[in-house]
Parts: sequence; structure tokens; C-alpha cells
Amino acid sequence: MYDIKNLTLDEKIKLVAGKNNWQLETANGKLPQVFLADGPHGLRKVSVEKLEQGVAEKEATYKTTAMPNICVLSNTWNTEMAYLQGETIADDCLECGADVLLAPGVNIKRTPLCGRNFEYFSEDPYLSGYMAKAFIEGVQSKGVGTSLKHFCCNNREYDRWTRNSEVDERALREIYLPAFEIAVKAEPWTVMCSYNPVNGVYASENKKLLDGVLRGDFGFNGLIMSDWNAVQHSAKAIKNTLDLEMPYRPEAYTEIKQGLDDGYLTEAELDRAVLKVLALIEKAQTSKKEVTTTKEKRHENALEIAREGITLLKNEGGILPLTGGNVFVSGAYAYTTPMGGGGSALALTDYKMKYVYEEINARLGEKGKAYTGKGVVSTSPFTYAWTMKHDLQESYHADTVVLCVGTNDTIESESYDRFSIRLSKQQEEYIKETAKVNENIVVVLFAGSAIDCSPWIDKVKAVVLAGFLGEAGSEAVADILTGKINPSGKLTETYPLCLEDTPTGDTIGTAMGEKYEEGIFVGYRWYDKKQKDALFPFGHGLSYAKFAYSNLEITKFSETDYEISYWITNVSNVDGKEVSQVYIKDILSTLERPEKELKGFAKTYLKAGESKKVSHKLDRRSFAYFMTAIDDWYVENGDFEVLVGASSKDIRLTGKIQINLPKYEQVSSHYTR
Ligand code: GLC
Repeated sequence: MYDIKNLTLDEKIKLVAGKNNWQLETANGKLPQVFLADGPHGLRKVSVEKLEQGVAEKEATYKTTAMPNICVLSNTWNTEMAYLQGETIADDCLECGADVLLAPGVNIKRTPLCGRNFEYFSEDPYLSGYMAKAFIEGVQSKGVGTSLKHFCCNNREYDRWTRNSEVDERALREIYLPAFEIAVKAEPWTVMCSYNPVNGVYASENKKLLDGVLRGDFGFNGLIMSDWNAVQHSAKAIKNTLDLEMPYRPEAYTEIKQGLDDGYLTEAELDRAVLKVLALIEKAQTSKKEVTTTKEKRHENALEIAREGITLLKNEGGILPLTGGNVFVSGAYAYTTPMGGGGSALALTDYKMKYVYEEINARLGEKGKAYTGKGVVSTSPFTYAWTMKHDLQESYHADTVVLCVGTNDTIESESYDRFSIRLSKQQEEYIKETAKVNENIVVVLFAGSAIDCSPWIDKVKAVVLAGFLGEAGSEAVADILTGKINPSGKLTETYPLCLEDTPTGDTIGTAMGEKYEEGIFVGYRWYDKKQKDALFPFGHGLSYAKFAYSNLEITKFSETDYEISYWITNVSNVDGKEVSQVYIKDILSTLERPEKELKGFAKTYLKAGESKKVSHKLDRRSFAYFMTAIDDWYVENGDFEVLVGASSKDIRLTGKIQINLPKYEQVSSHYTR
């Protein structure tokens, strides 16, 4: 459609870098304008025209639907919700003129300290990959492109620009790359490389990863762009197969021109990148675009996803759902809930957020009354003392106390990490003091990554992980607390007993870089290997309903192809949804492997008393591990176990599979003459 032969050399050089912060070049008007915009939690698009008129960035930013953060979407374990989030944001993109949405991020949650974990799916690559794939399919179904990011090994925010990630090949292949490998099956229009060097070479010029792995091994054929200002040298990046440097940088032109003049960069290498940019522009022009939702419907979608992502972690004595009486709602978020984590993913909405205590009150109706403190309910989690004396009086007289606590976009944000996973001292004190005057406490936790709840967990009867819920947060929390909606979220990252128990301990990152010492043992893989308990394990989440698992069946089609099925029954009198998880365990392997690995999951709606059959396909990759000696995935003969669980620690059904591939498919070390 757009012929490279119509472009001058000057136009081609300009085309492989942005025109400004958000737009691509147009080759002196020969090409249509393409606009890139964040983010995974809602469109965050600045009007260039308003900026050029001198309007401040916040005022120049379009007001769109603030969706639940990815950490909440992930806890739904529901690919349909991921698709819905994608297509919902895409409608805002179509209305505001964004052609490519810079999302989703699939970096693995290696440490809960990472400031940007709210924007990522999980500690597990399989879950991350399939949820991201559905998100991409949702966005692109509307004719808007995506940018799968940040490729790769950007697992802390501290000096993300220069700190080297030193990762061994197995950890790369089994932990940090698979989410990209799975998600590229949705054919994202673009992939965004990360800032950091990987094993010494900046991602933006890491030809082995960009061309060898992403394009060669994973079959990605879209455009690879840099993260913003991630390019060290434009000619070197283009030569190492980056396609587009973002954003505009004045030196880019001269670096490429000089590279061509010196013969370091050939015109053919430049043209390779130019063709990718032309292909992206063509996609943006020819894709079928249709807005199908109103602003109100997008809010409803945000609410639906928020409801499904809220995770009930503890419910002692069935204190939830609230049945009535005097419900005192206090804490930093008794009014409005934190929209999301800080940085480029924070969408700006003009939706007038509801108040949590009012929403609970509305749902209690005649059964009870929800009210909040007389004190100054601060929105900052650092100034509790002012409200304490007022609120403790109220707490003493209440039947139930709902404490809305957590972090916010100043504590969890792009560009910097947390130094602790505890709540603020004031919030911890607030919980402990309240527990002295009332034993019926429900903590609602707003956070984007794991919180160490151990200082107060035994003093409260229930904990509801709300995460960062976007604009519909207050309504969603009230729906769950009052039982209007039965919670069905499950953890996609481990909640440890303390920071020191995590794979990276309490390290906060050193200036020179990071050696991923734990290798493949990340998340639940780590706690299994170290035989460490977690406060709440990966995959954990409670319901107001109760589910029984039965009848595991394994059907064999070949040595490495199987179908497993099992039944789930809702043995309660409450309708609900259950997330079932399938893990594979390699009983004996030549190279060390995790105790179990997630290889399937499903979310099943079951009416009270209803039973349903759930099936999953297992294929070669369900059993394989990456063998660096042969530089490939390898299935080792022997015994495997299928573990079907309600969480990684609550295994309900097990079955055995014996794999016996021909000897010539096994590597020499396994020969037994
Ligand atoms: C930021 C982020 C990236 C975002 C881009 C544009 O630095 O790392 O995720 O899409 O720049 O805002």
C-alpha cells in the first residue's frame, strides 16, 4: 500500500524514529498520521494540539474509562475478562484517535518490591501469557493495535534504564520469555523492548533476543519499538533489528546518517526497519474500526472486571458477606478507592467516584447501616493519628468494622520500587488499635503487589484483596462485602509471610545490575523448592460458595498429548465461580525442575448444587523443560503427576502419566544399555 520506493533517504531515516512523544513521522505528508498511547488500565492520551496551544499536560489529557489494574484483571483468572478489558479500552482509543495502545505488560513478578507489579499479571509465565494474549485479542478485535511489553527482564524499576539483568538461559526460556512466546500468538501489532541490558547487551540492540528469539523462535512479525528513550545509539539499534525508536530524539537522525556514511549501517538494514513502520501504518489505516460501547457501558465493563478480580483471602467465621447491623467503615479509602498505580499506566477519568461506605449502606438497605468516621478521613495512608481517637469510639460501638487500607499511586509506581511490603506504620497501628476495641474486623486491602499482612492478620477476621480497581472500585467492593456478588478472584502472586522469604529477600537492587541467582525458582516455584510456607499461596482465593472436585480422567493421544478432565460441583446454596488450576510435576528429571508448574486453568460458573466437567489439553510443552545442552525444549522419559487444585497448595485431585518416547528422542545421559 505504501511503497518504500516513494520515500527519499531523508524520509526513511526520519521514519524509524518518532515525530514527537506519541506520533510517527508522515514522510512530508506522504503517509497518514499514526498515534501511539498508553496504557493497560485505560487510554492515557494527550491531545498534541492542546499541548501545542500551551495547555498543561493534565488538562490536555483525554478523560477516559479508568479500568481495573492488570494485577486485578489477572486475579480474575478469566481470559474473557482480559478480552473485555482490551475491547473496552479500544473503544476509548477509537473515540480519541489512538491507533496503537501501549499495552499489555507481561514482566514477571520476581520481587514484590517492584514498583510496577500492579501493571503486570503474575509470577507465573503461563498465566501471564494466556491472559495477555486475550487482552491483545480484545484490543485488536476493534482495529486498534497493541504493544506487548517490556521485552525483556525488566523486573525492578530501580534504575531500569541501565541496570543489567543477568539471567541464565533456563530462567530466560522457562520464566522470563514464555509470556511473550504465548502472547505473540495473538499477533500484537508491536512489541516494546525494555530499557535494561540483558546479559550485558541493551534490549534495544540485543539482536539475539529481538531477531533470534522474538522473531526467529517465537515467529513475531510485527514491529519492535523501543521503550521511551531506551535507545543508546540509533544506528546500532536499527542494525540490531530494532524497527522504531521512541520518542523523537534529535540525535537519532545524525547517528543513522553517520552510520550510513561510515558504512556501519547499510541502506538495506535501514529499509528492513522502514518496511516494518510502513506495515504498521498500513495496519492502522486498513483495520476495521467500530465503536460499540457507550461511556456508561465501559463503566459497567470496568465494574464487572473489578468484581471478578477482588480476592477473598480470609473469612473467619463467615463474617462475610455482611448481614447487617452497624457497619463502621474507616481508613484511608472509606470514601474513594485508589484508582491505580503511578506512572504511564494511570488513566485519567472524569467519572465521579462513589464512596465505599455509601455504597455498602445502599446495599444493606433495611438490614443495617454503614457509616464512616467523624474524624478527617485522610486519603493519605500516612496521617492516621488525626482520625484515630474519633474512629476508635465509633469502632467500639459498631457490630462490624470495615477497614479500608493499602497503598496508592505514590507508593506503587513506575520508575521506583518499594523498600518494604508492609503497610505504613500508621495503618498497622490503626488496625491493631481497632482490634483492641472490636473483634469483628474486615480489612479491605488496596495494593498492586504483595503486602506483608503478618503483623495484624491474626487480629482481623476477614481480608479482602481489592487491588487497584479503577473508577468502579467503590461499587465493586460494596458488591463483594454485601454478597451481591460472590467473590471469585484468586492470587496470581504469592503473599509471603515476610519479605525475607521471597526469592530476592529484602534486596533492593544494586547499582551495577542484578544477577537472577534464584534462576527458574520464582514465585511458588521458590516456596516449593525451599519448602517455605506462604501467608496466602499462589492460586488462593475463597468464595461464599463451596466447591468439590471429582472424577479426574486422563485420556492419552500420544506420548506427549493428553486430555485431562474433572468435575467441579458447587456443594453450597450460593451460586459462584471457581478457578481450577492444573499443575504438572516431573517426578524425576536429570536437571532440577520446580516441584510443579502451572499448565492449565479454567474459571467455571456453577449454580448452587450444579456440577460441570472441565477439560484441558496437555501437549509436549506441558511436560518439557529447556535443556541448554541441546538449546531446545526437552521431554524426558519417566513419570509425571497431574495435580488439579483450587490453589497451588490446595491440591484436590492427582493422576499419573508415564512418558516413554523412543530412545532416539532422549539425550545420551538417559541411555540405560
Ligand atoms: C514508559 C514506560 C512504557 C510506556 C512508555 C510511554 O517509560 O516504560 O511502558 O508505554 O514509556 O509512556
